[in-house]
Amino acid sequence: MSRIAYVNGQYRDLRDASVNIEDRGYQFADGVYEVCEVRGGKLVDFPRHMARLERSLRELRIEMPMTLRALDVVMHEVVRRNRIGYGLVYLQVTRGVARRDHPFPLRPVKPAVVVTARSLNFSKNQATAAHGIGVITVPENRWPRVDIKSISLLPNVLAKQQARDSGAYEAWYVDGNGEVTEGSSSNAWIITTDGRVVTHPIGHDILAGITRDVLKETLAALQIRLEERPFTPEEAYGAAEAFVTSASQIVMPVVRIDGRTVGNGKPGPISMRLREEFHRFADFS
Ligand code: PDD
Repeated sequence: MSRIAYVNGQYRDLRDASVNIEDRGYQFADGVYEVCEVRGGKLVDFPRHMARLERSLRELRIEMPMTLRALDVVMHEVVRRNRIGYGLVYLQVTRGVARRDHPFPLRPVKPAVVVTARSLNFSKNQATAAHGIGVITVPENRWPRVDIKSISLLPNVLAKQQARDSGAYEAWYVDGNGEVTEGSSSNAWIITTDGRVVTHPIGHDILAGITRDVLKETLAALQIRLEERPFTPEEAYGAAEAFVTSASQIVMPVVRIDGRTVGNGKPGPISMRLREEFHRFADFS
């Protein structure tokens, strides 16, 4: 089956879909994106993703490309046309097309919109979670506004590749205070030996993950204690459990950090429980 993308007003076969080479997304990474999980053909936590999109656009002074209602229709239509049961839908909005020049275009241009979707392998993801993943720590080298979900992801790409080259799955950034901020494409969490769940507080130095947000509600409902505070790699090495969260992985247990075993080296019971319970607290549309 051919894949269908939405590109600036049209649904196109992915093979024929293209954007202008003077799109500022292509030339300056001048744009933002969102990734939503798709389950049972439905978008997970779509309203929260749209609220974050609006915020990212506002911070970069890019116009909303269309109404929220229209975006809702387009994103659901891309999922439907690609017959995604379980997978991801990707939305990218860039400032638009203009002759290459650093400042914003003098005459306003229409923001460019691309939506794609793809299936994920559910059994494979479950198998990965059953084994748990390894992470490495790397120095924080991103700009100080990573709360904006910008498509400018070169440091994230390099950190992720460094992780893969060393046999790990994800890289955790460690900032100038020696504290873990987040992963290259996920939020970072540990669970202390007395059962407290710890993650970095929201600020300009991490992305406010939608999965993180919903997991906070999951923790509250399950009466598990949450501490939003930074933690160091050393604290993480000695933690009972660790995990990462993102739209594509939901709760993914971490069993190795910088080559050191976390807990007994198996996915922890609280992490696995949170993975199982998460979607009870998520919104489906
Ligand atoms: N990544 N931190 C970073 C740097 C991320 O890129 C992501 C998401 C998250 C988690 O956010 P959420 O729970 O809203 O997915 C945290 C997406 C999935 C990606 O880049 O593919």
